[in-house]
Amino acid sequence: MTLPVISAAPSNPPVKATSKPAAELPQTGQNVTPWLLVVLVVVLFSGGLFGYDQGVISGALHGIKNTFSLSPLIIEVVTSWMTLGALLGALAAGELADGIGRKHTVLIAGAMFSLGSLVQAFAPDTVILVAGRLIIGAGVGVAAVAAPLYAAELAPTNFRGRFVSAYQLAITIGIFLAYLIDSWLSKSDSWRVMLGAAAVPGILLFAVALIAPRSPRWLMMKGRREEAAAELVKVRPGVDFKPRLDAIETALKEDGKKASWAEVFHRQWRRPLLIGVGLAVFQQITGINAIIYYADQIFASAGFASQASQTTVTTWAIGGVNVVATFIAIAFIDNIGRRILLLTGLTGMAISLAVVGVAFQFIAAPAAGAISAHGPSVAGVVTLFALVGFIICFAFSMGPVVWTVINEVFPGHIRGRAVAVCTAVNWGSAFLVSQFFLTVIGAIGNSYTFWLFAAFSVLAAIWIYFRVPETKGQSLEQIQLLWTKAR
Ligand code: BGC
Repeated sequence: MTLPVISAAPSNPPVKATSKPAAELPQTGQNVTPWLLVVLVVVLFSGGLFGYDQGVISGALHGIKNTFSLSPLIIEVVTSWMTLGALLGALAAGELADGIGRKHTVLIAGAMFSLGSLVQAFAPDTVILVAGRLIIGAGVGVAAVAAPLYAAELAPTNFRGRFVSAYQLAITIGIFLAYLIDSWLSKSDSWRVMLGAAAVPGILLFAVALIAPRSPRWLMMKGRREEAAAELVKVRPGVDFKPRLDAIETALKEDGKKASWAEVFHRQWRRPLLIGVGLAVFQQITGINAIIYYADQIFASAGFASQASQTTVTTWAIGGVNVVATFIAIAFIDNIGRRILLLTGLTGMAISLAVVGVAFQFIAAPAAGAISAHGPSVAGVVTLFALVGFIICFAFSMGPVVWTVINEVFPGHIRGRAVAVCTAVNWGSAFLVSQFFLTVIGAIGNSYTFWLFAAFSVLAAIWIYFRVPETKGQSLEQIQLLWTKAR
């Protein structure tokens, strides 16, 4: 069986004709310029807010319960309706990103982040609080679609992986900051400050997005070639913009179709859609958010008895390590490529999860309290190390690479909506995993739950090996040729 690996692009081929095919695009203007740094700031703020808003609620819940004396149902609603908002926001964002552009969609996300944070912080009752959760969730969903899309379309080819990985880095920093702020403010139960704090970066995101450049690819999609040329020259001075715009134009003509929802699901784009949706699902069913959300409880059953020790281990061993290990992806994604990172990462994740499963065989769940006086057992420490191993492997593979590939496999005219579909599927899967993790543990026990995640990691690796092509070093137009050639 032949592997679906795209052969390397010719390096710096000479430019003669103006309407070169996409596969022969020159690689000029490939430096990171000040305007690209502005793009990077937009991406960092968007990802950071995504991570913060996702991570902060666990620490805020206690205070919210004290203020409003909530029923268990309302607690669940307060927690999970952000995910619902994110799902809806992601779906709407596809339409918005294609209709009003990537930059203006990010602006809307910034406004929603700020508004949602303030509504939550000043909520006089639970109805307003839940409304705030929905608004902030929608902001997360909109940003989760628009920001990496914006990064992928504006980054020079040889930096594209790093730009989208910077988005993942920002998510991890957001989660880490949420863990830290939660542990600092938890004694005073200042949940309004925890939730309201996101308004500041929300306003900053809005301000930076106001001056940020527009995506030349989107402008070309709208037939606004002169504006596209102006943006391209502004963002990447020195770029030979004419052949680049010609290539985008050719690719758009080759698409030929009008952007519509039916077109996203058209047979012709089945392969990229399956790749995007498959990666979105595998990213979640290999267990990342079960660990991000429930780390405290996993460490508790592994023998870390005091609340303080659980919080410390979760903050640093999960939150901190997640941030640091993402730099591995940033360093390597555009050099050694997406596939090697994905396959090695998944192998490490599978091994780590299998080890956690074995360790739990030696941890007597009901007697966990008995461990407390003496701290964690050997099996507890093994669990800790294995989970750190899992987080490292996820952080350089399934975290950043999944978002990178999702944002580069689709042809221009359906990119916004198709990315939105994948993002919504990702949120849906995250919701299901976090919702049912404890139920599954209750039904089959800790060990089998982690072995199940390990089995999904093995499945993911096999599927990626046979189905996901290498996209490193290819322009977005070159990647599109993969599917149109295979027609
Ligand atoms: C995932 C999130 C996850 C985060 C952890 C992201 O790529 O989409 O669901 O919480 O990584 O770092």
